Amino acid sequence: MSASAKGRSLALRESISTDGVPLKRRKITHWIGRNWARIVYSHQVEPVWLETNVFELPIPHLDERLDGVSILHLTDFHLGDRVAKRHIRQAVDLGQQQACDLIALTGDFVQGGFRHVDPVAEMLSKLSAPLGVYAVLGNHDYAVRNASGLRLHRGLAERVRKSLEDYGIPVLHNEHRIVAKEGAPLAVAGVADLWSREADLRQALAGLDSETPRVVLAHNPTTIEQLETLRCDLMLSGHTHGGQIDVPGWGRPMLSRKMKGYAAGLYYHQGGFLYVNKGIGYTVRFRFRVRPEVAVMRLVRANLGAL
Ligand SMILES: [Fe+2]
Repeated sequence: MSASAKGRSLALRESISTDGVPLKRRKITHWIGRNWARIVYSHQVEPVWLETNVFELPIPHLDERLDGVSILHLTDFHLGDRVAKRHIRQAVDLGQQQACDLIALTGDFVQGGFRHVDPVAEMLSKLSAPLGVYAVLGNHDYAVRNASGLRLHRGLAERVRKSLEDYGIPVLHNEHRIVAKEGAPLAVAGVADLWSREADLRQALAGLDSETPRVVLAHNPTTIEQLETLRCDLMLSGHTHGGQIDVPGWGRPMLSRKMKGYAAGLYYHQGGFLYVNKGIGYTVRFRFRVRPEVAVMRLVRANLGAL
């Protein structure tokens, strides 16, 4: 056999696997299988596979009576035709099991109209905490789909606010409340959603004693850019859903360039923390490497020498 015939024979043997299936066809089959499995997982499993994340946040000058105070943070429920009530009930149960001192709900309670408002408020009324449960509204509660301010359901925000308050959950609209643990004050402020064009962070924090630690509830994390000279020890936000998809080597294609800067997790800004929660629900039933989240923030006295 000539050298060139031997080479062709070797190449032929290498392209045939031991069971006689050409390697190229086998690779394609594996690729389709792997990606089909990922798609099924991202549609069926991950959107309703809750995770609990607990953080310990050092807060300077925190009164020792507030040391260890815990805040449960839930957001972006999106009750509607796509997100099942069962999923939200599971999140509420998991959240309540954390036995936190305070509960913060940061908007997007409904998606798709008025008929979902009372059901989601009724489900959230199962949450309780010694220092109370507080809420702010998100862009979907205002039925605002984009930054241009286009509204699909006028009056929805008022309806969501009334229903939550009827079920015992105060909705903070550019205002704050003082709660106290063993007499030590903690301010809980809430800001209207940015896209509603009603957000006023300065008004929400107006009149606060400079010594009082403050937690701000704001649906859209970019609200933190309006802090300017104001102080916020912790801002709790949602809105991004973590992008819902996080592809290795590609990132989060569903987020705009600006929102990629606030995709998910903990950020440090002007001496305070911003936490961007990945949310409970979704706008499209698809999550990949961005599981829905129950978050707990535990505030602790900062060791100023370590900062
Ligand atoms: Fe949302």
